[in-house]
Amino acid sequence: MTVKKICCIGAGYVGGPTMAVIAKQCPDIQVTVVDLNEARIAAWNDQDVNKIPVYEPGLSDIVAEARGRNLFFSTEVDKAIDEADMIFISVNTPTKTYGAGKGQAADLKWIELCARQIARVSTTDKIVVEKSTLPVRTASTLRDILHHTGNGVRFQILSNPEFLAEGTAVEDLLEPDRVLIGGDQDEEGKTAIEALVNVYSRWVPRERILTTNVWSSELSKLTANAFLAQRVSSINALSELCEHTEAEINEVARAIGTDSRIGPKFLKASVGFGGSCFQKDILNLVYIARSYGLTEVADYWEQVIIMNDHQKKRFANKIIRALYNTVNGKKIAFLGWAFKKDTNDTRESAAIYVADHLLYEQAQVAVYDPKVVEQQVYIDLDYLATRSTEENKTLVTVQNDPYEACKDAHAVAILTEWDEFKDYDWQRIYDSMLKPAKIFDGRNLLDKKKLEEIGFQVHAIGS
Ligand code: NAD
Ligand code: UGA
Repeated sequence: MTVKKICCIGAGYVGGPTMAVIAKQCPDIQVTVVDLNEARIAAWNDQDVNKIPVYEPGLSDIVAEARGRNLFFSTEVDKAIDEADMIFISVNTPTKTYGAGKGQAADLKWIELCARQIARVSTTDKIVVEKSTLPVRTASTLRDILHHTGNGVRFQILSNPEFLAEGTAVEDLLEPDRVLIGGDQDEEGKTAIEALVNVYSRWVPRERILTTNVWSSELSKLTANAFLAQRVSSINALSELCEHTEAEINEVARAIGTDSRIGPKFLKASVGFGGSCFQKDILNLVYIARSYGLTEVADYWEQVIIMNDHQKKRFANKIIRALYNTVNGKKIAFLGWAFKKDTNDTRESAAIYVADHLLYEQAQVAVYDPKVVEQQVYIDLDYLATRSTEENKTLVTVQNDPYEACKDAHAVAILTEWDEFKDYDWQRIYDSMLKPAKIFDGRNLLDKKKLEEIGFQVHAIGS
């Protein structure tokens, strides 16, 4: 079977970039990305491609090339579903905030709504692809809904989890380590798998396209994120030990990372991992393990989250301690608010939690981030519901100029590893700050020695 029309439900950080790259690589396939969020679709359609809602290096060029040719963004969900022969579901699957599994299980409300909508409007046979990250066995729910429409339309369900990382989405999509496709192992299932393999094989070497059964594919996605996050928590755990023993975490990371069995990636000690997925997916894994009564398995993975929470809190406490145990009324400049560099995404960013802890102590926080807009900072803090919107507005300011953010501050905290921070005029920043001027480098980004020569007191992670 040859796919001619693709519909993707969900125009977010995954749906947008993924479909833009498929459209770029397959000019003969019509790709329509739909979303309920009108403002988001309008932004994807903005004449000025620099205003698309997801900031990713290289993405605006791809959108400019394909949009209007074979890439379309629309709010007409029903129409796009019915026209397509392959439908990707790429909606959000956040942690549940209510009911059973609150705080751990994935909220599959939006997934189920999509399945019901597909079941309701489809008049021709379709392949439905799980692109969202889902708990293992979700395909059986989708199957139950889609196989009981009673209108004779046949559906095949595939799992095709996405492994892109934000900030490098375009290169990850153009040259993925692997593409994973899970499907039923009978004839019809294999035909559906082959249809999707044929889309990716236009640009991904065939040997990098792995095919499995649906359940392995679903579980592999949660597992991959759990393993990556586990590495970060492992190195962060050791960073605390380094701070007590004069060992240097960067040296330790290099020493262990050169063992080819361990490898050098994901060994960067930090203020803690953030992002919309690591925490959500591990919590989900923990929940699933517990639901099967696998207490030891659940406890093992939960420790990755416990360690990460500790790291964020530890960073905030380090600032408070170094500022003589009181930050009340003291200005602390935050350089960076995004959860990593090269993205405007702030979901679960460590910065939010560090700020919250300092605000609890009545600090004045001034935030500068090159890509995060002012309103987002307040949305993130208000979402925690720790204090009123008015209090957040009083205690936090968002600056467009990093030098302004640091002026008259007692301390500067680096929360995101944006490259531009390295090139700032740190002498100028030092001169404008209150003394003793302190820097808390939550990303081990800056040259500690140079800063100390200027006169800063520098606190890095794990040294
Ligand atoms: P997102 O919140 O940025 O985008 C999801 C979009 O789906 C939203 O715009 C929302 O309005 C839309 N939506 C929800 N229900 C809808 C419906 N019924 N009809 C139409 N539109 C609907 O989320 P995201 O970051 O793109 O993540 C999507 C999925 O991909 C999640 O399961 C996530 O775990 C997974 N994932 C994310 C990343 C990442 O880097 N963000 C990477 C790999 C996998
Ligand atoms: C991660 C995975 O890397 C992707 O493969 C996956 O598709 C995605 O989650 C997802 O499912 O959403 P992402 O969260 O975008 O991607 O970014 P990462 O590069 O993995 O970084 C996650 C967090 O860990 C960031 O806060 C980052 O700063 C932190 N990190 C990462 C470290 O603190 N140290 C490291 O060595 C690496």
